[in-house]
Amino acid sequence: MAVTRSGSDEHWSGRAAFVLAAIGSAVGIGNLVRFPYQAGENGGGAFVIVYILAVFAIGLPVLMAELFIGRRGGGTPVAAIRRLAKAEGASTAWALMGWIGIFASFLIVTFYSVISGWLLYYAWSLLGDIAGNIAEMGLAGIAQPAFAGDSEDSITSRFPELLANPGRQVLFHGLFIGLATFIVSRGVKGGIEKAATWLMPVFFFLLVALSVTSLIIGDAASALDFLFRPKFDALASQFMNGEILVNAVGQAFFSLSLGSALMITYGIYLERDQNIPAAATTVASADTAVALISGLAIFPIVFAFNLEPAGGLGLIFGPLLLAFNQMPFGALFGLAFFIMAVFAALTSAISLFEVPAAWAKGDIDLDAATHARRRTIGSVIIGLLIFVIGVFHALSQVPDGGSLSTWQPFGQMPVLGNKTLLDAADALTGSIMLPLGGFLAAVFAGYAVSESSSREELGFKHEKSYRRWRFLIRYVCPFFVGLILVWGVIIAPLLAAANGN
Ligand code: PHE
Repeated sequence: MAVTRSGSDEHWSGRAAFVLAAIGSAVGIGNLVRFPYQAGENGGGAFVIVYILAVFAIGLPVLMAELFIGRRGGGTPVAAIRRLAKAEGASTAWALMGWIGIFASFLIVTFYSVISGWLLYYAWSLLGDIAGNIAEMGLAGIAQPAFAGDSEDSITSRFPELLANPGRQVLFHGLFIGLATFIVSRGVKGGIEKAATWLMPVFFFLLVALSVTSLIIGDAASALDFLFRPKFDALASQFMNGEILVNAVGQAFFSLSLGSALMITYGIYLERDQNIPAAATTVASADTAVALISGLAIFPIVFAFNLEPAGGLGLIFGPLLLAFNQMPFGALFGLAFFIMAVFAALTSAISLFEVPAAWAKGDIDLDAATHARRRTIGSVIIGLLIFVIGVFHALSQVPDGGSLSTWQPFGQMPVLGNKTLLDAADALTGSIMLPLGGFLAAVFAGYAVSESSSREELGFKHEKSYRRWRFLIRYVCPFFVGLILVWGVIIAPLLAAANGN
């Protein structure tokens, strides 16, 4: 029996709405913070080339696979997989993939919301800065740098101060997740889609405005050189230790929101007349463009003010502020930067939240009124759970914050060990659960689902394109994603052990 209609009472209102919502999910902290960080750590241009290859040869085929699995199965992320497996005569144990995805999405959003809360706090405090400047010197205050008059120390200590203030962290995390709960409780069209159509255009505008400003006032030459001139000798030597490949594929998965049943869920709401390959290609291209453009917003400033490109999370929350303190219009630039980041984080957080919410809503055997009721109640319960677990993540970041800041949930275990709760959850999802979810999706779509079903559902215009997708999903994706898992879980820990750390 072939499942021919997507079984859901909720649908995207059209192609543009779906594509914007999917881009909203993909574009997030992963693009604005994690990508520049990864590029910085992995030698710039060399990483960028490998990353782009990873997006289009590995991420994109899996993205198409997840979308068609959701649409063909329908219902909830778990039911969709079970139903499709049954229709294809495969084991219903494949539904486990849906559970992994629901759990991964839930776990990611518990700490994603805490980090988003930090971004929100920064936006809030820069707003206060500007208001103060305007109160002091009228409209001319807008042109002031941020934190005028503060010493370098007091500026870079803002981040440790925020972390040391659990009440403040919890307040902003609570505000953020409260907003996300409200949006998700309103459903696909009235909530997620509406948020994406309002927030994403503002996001794009701010991103372009910030990168143009940054290229003009910052060190554009160094930034372009860093991001786009591949240093092939560096590439060759890093290739040998395999790390760059693993990081690039991992980053592609995280950034495209793959392996978390998220794109399966978004596929459930996709109408049959939408062409999956075309939509997926737009989403992957936009996500990659945003990553590169945000590199252009950040690195010219990084180089102009002699900051360290490999600064990690701390770069955004610490040194970047020093630049805002020295630039004309620095407070305004900083405010725009953090508002942009909050918008990107919010559209990603609601997408992560939607995965467990879609499960709570129930399968296609229920009527629309029951779905609506279960979505509302489910969103509130899930939102509360995210809030509570997030509080623990926040507390785990408080320096000398008692037992929670020293608690390492996985003890000394490889990959997951020696980490606070927040970092352990990040490693568990990013290095293990998402690659595992993506691996299973590729094998399911490439082997368990028949060739005729995937050909029909994907609707490629040319048979040649379909054959290429099938080759990538059957051989290239499982191989490389399997490699990440084996690397992340076995080889890297062994190497680390051999190096004595
Ligand atoms: N893609 C999002 C980002 O780049 C994060 C995310 C991961 C969202 C997995 C959904 C699922 O920030």
